[in-house]
Amino acid sequence: MEKTTLSVRNLKKTIGKKEIIKGISFDLKEGEVFGFLGPNGAGKTTTIRMLVGLIKPTSGSVEIGGYNIENHFFEAMKNLGCIVENPELYPYLSGWDNLLHFVRMLDDVGEERITEVTQLVGLTDRIHDKVKTYSLGMRQRLGIAQALLGRPKVLILDEPTNGLDPAGIREMRQFIRFLAESEGLSVLVSSHLLSEIQLLCDRVAIISKGKVIRTDTVEHLLSNREQLIWSFEPFEKGKEILSSLTKTEDSGDGFIRTEYESEKAALWNKQLVDAGVKVTEMNRKLPALEDLFLELTGGDKID
Ligand SMILES: Nc1ncnc2c1ncn2[C@@H]1O[C@H](COP(=O)(O)OP(=O)(O)OP(=O)(O)O)[C@@H](O)[C@H]1O
Ligand SMILES: [Mg+2]
Repeated sequence: MEKTTLSVRNLKKTIGKKEIIKGISFDLKEGEVFGFLGPNGAGKTTTIRMLVGLIKPTSGSVEIGGYNIENHFFEAMKNLGCIVENPELYPYLSGWDNLLHFVRMLDDVGEERITEVTQLVGLTDRIHDKVKTYSLGMRQRLGIAQALLGRPKVLILDEPTNGLDPAGIREMRQFIRFLAESEGLSVLVSSHLLSEIQLLCDRVAIISKGKVIRTDTVEHLLSNREQLIWSFEPFEKGKEILSSLTKTEDSGDGFIRTEYESEKAALWNKQLVDAGVKVTEMNRKLPALEDLFLELTGGDKID
């Protein structure tokens, strides 16, 4: 059995008269990257703030490494590393001195751990430079290094790729996977981008208006949802052949849509070519978060 590192049960938060989080439950397993996916205002940050002890839940329970955050706050927090919104760093100190500052707040962590986490996040070359000279991606990495100082079992990152460029996003993704695989960390990542969660996570909880509307593996969630967009010459003949092989949809602009099935796509393509139809385009289209949401919430629009 995989070990559960974070367990959340029926978590609720009311602020003023407004119930913002309406009963959220999920578990994180050792070595898994878990996505928290939802549109702006869904309640991702509010939930995360409760998980990391920044605000108190109205009701429900959170256990980290087997410790309940209400009864055993310090033990629970020892198992947790987190960055909520932006890492808190001192720009006029070097990366090393920033980490040193945090090491001093931890009882059983020495300076050798700074060298370790610096290597882990790939900042060895720049660690003695002032943080104000770092790029956004480097600051994120330093923030993660800081979160890893206490050797946590669970790492929580609220929108870790916000503001990064495409290369930075890819790097951050690879890095998070590396942490889960090589260090056995459970990582909870929030995002409002399906494509992001899809590429990074093993499992995902979809959150909308303060509730989890579905928790599943990314694979299940997206199976049979991807589409193939075809274009061929001659168009009518290609359309006829493809329609005899699978369900098709004519988008009216010279393209035909079918379901994406990896084994069948190559076969359909061959059958078209064998019949003398030239396939000029075959594009795989990822489903939009919007479509998935519409389906799961039965017509609820993303705010
Ligand atoms: N302190 C507060 N007082 C009142 N309302 C709040 C407070 N904090 C959050 N909210 C409301 O709770 C809802 C959820 O906010 P939250 O920041 O958790 O969303 P989010 O999913 O993180 O969104 P985003 O993708 O924009 O970061 C929003 O409607 C927000 O306005
Ligand atoms: Mg947020």
